[in-house]
Amino acid sequence: MCLMAYVQSLCAIIDFLYDEIRTQKQYIDHFKKLKDSDPDHLAKYSGVMQNPNYDDVMKLVYEGMFAYAMIWSFGAALSDSSDRSWFNGTLRNKAGKIKFPEIQNSQVYDFRFDVTTATWESWYEGMEKMDPDYDGLYSNLIVPTIETTRQNRLINIHKYSKKGIFYAGIAGTGKTTVLKNYFQCMNKEENIGASVNFNSYTDSLAFQQVLESNVQKRYGRLWGPPPSKKLIFFIDDINMPKVDTYGTQQPIALCRQIIDYKMVYDRNALSEQKILEDVMFMASMNPKSGSFFVDLRLQRHFTTVALILPDKEALKAMYKQILDSHFVNFDQVCRDTVPCIVDATAAVFTNITMDKTLLPTATKFHYQFNLRDFSKIIQTFLLTDAKIMRGNKLGLARLWLHECHRVWRDRLIRAEDEAKYMQYINTGLSQFQLKPEDCHAEPLVFTSFVPTCKGFNDPTLMPVVSMEDLNSVLVDKLE
Ligand SMILES: Nc1ncnc2c1ncn2[C@@H]1O[C@H](COP(=O)(O)OP(=O)(O)OP(=O)(O)O)[C@@H](O)[C@H]1O
Ligand SMILES: [Mg+2]
Repeated sequence: MCLMAYVQSLCAIIDFLYDEIRTQKQYIDHFKKLKDSDPDHLAKYSGVMQNPNYDDVMKLVYEGMFAYAMIWSFGAALSDSSDRSWFNGTLRNKAGKIKFPEIQNSQVYDFRFDVTTATWESWYEGMEKMDPDYDGLYSNLIVPTIETTRQNRLINIHKYSKKGIFYAGIAGTGKTTVLKNYFQCMNKEENIGASVNFNSYTDSLAFQQVLESNVQKRYGRLWGPPPSKKLIFFIDDINMPKVDTYGTQQPIALCRQIIDYKMVYDRNALSEQKILEDVMFMASMNPKSGSFFVDLRLQRHFTTVALILPDKEALKAMYKQILDSHFVNFDQVCRDTVPCIVDATAAVFTNITMDKTLLPTATKFHYQFNLRDFSKIIQTFLLTDAKIMRGNKLGLARLWLHECHRVWRDRLIRAEDEAKYMQYINTGLSQFQLKPEDCHAEPLVFTSFVPTCKGFNDPTLMPVVSMEDLNSVLVDKLE
């Protein structure tokens, strides 16, 4: 990415932070009191300097704002853990007066700067909890995490200068989820969210049509979202369109033109231009699919942010919240099994994703193991019923095993991969502290259609009693 783009992102973030403390009432009041040497307000900075005074405090506040902007401009695009560690160490050393908290395994990315105390606070503080009464589609369920929280703030910052953010990350790192979450949380009175998925067939016409369907004529040649609203237009998988003979990708070239000139030509009367107002573009790409990079002339308009897989603890916390909310009406034995399910899945997931022999190659290109697999396993437990599973820890362990086999083992094509997988599974299974032979006992099949055929109304997951029983249901259905 070109260096100038990083500098522009840095300036955009600083612009916002600077204007925020000068326009928001709570900050205006705070800094006014500080200027008047109010002892209570000066005391808030006594932890970071001796004898705080307005001028010294402001220097510290500006330094903190600069460091925050550095993190989310120069530091944000780093995806490799060693690069992130290097950036973490360098910034900690350079940010002389504003010390980052020395928490084990923490990085500068994990903190936000609080201007009212000139200290760094963890993003975990004040993070929202999942809505326990959520009853929508599982695919729309988003658990607030440190990533969704800090990206929400970053998008709000960028909205101020209408500069987009370009999320890059391998499959399943939560790029789409970050935007989905932002669309759910944003102020709907002021913003409208729209998204389009690019694929190899998307051409500039298709892109223009989707964009135009989200804007309306304001007056004259001006087009935009309904008055006083801003349109946040998210282009998912932006690098997917076909690369043409000239090395360009049609819709990307059009997108660059729209951002550069803020207008699009009317395809029916080329002399007419539609000037677009209040439209902000966001984009995401998986650098391992589609074209490996997109036109730098487009990317320079965005702040590039690399998303990485959440760490093991964050994953466990996320999925534990989902299961806890479902298991709330279950008995104590089942509720106590929730941490075992999450820990066991996390153990297998980490082992599989870290195992270099299980990486995709030309002959096993489908070895794409990512967060979606974890999600699918947890999703199945949402089909369990409190009465049927009452006190049945073994039943839950067996269901977990069945789901892991369905999601992971069924994809393995080599005996040595399966042997490794079984090793990982047995490590995970040890979390349940049950006899392995009981857990593995055949038939290890759970279905929701056998109970439905036998008169159950809900699609409840139940174990198959015997293969003959399953066979008879299938034969009945075929006839
Ligand atoms: N905060 C979250 N809460 C709930 N589920 C999440 C969260 N973050 C990620 N996930 C789950 O992780 C999986 C992958 O997320 P997502 O689809 O956003 O990844 P992606 O980076 O867009 O992947 P791709 O490149 O394949 O499009 C999804 O199943 C999603 O439900
Ligand atoms: Mg996606």
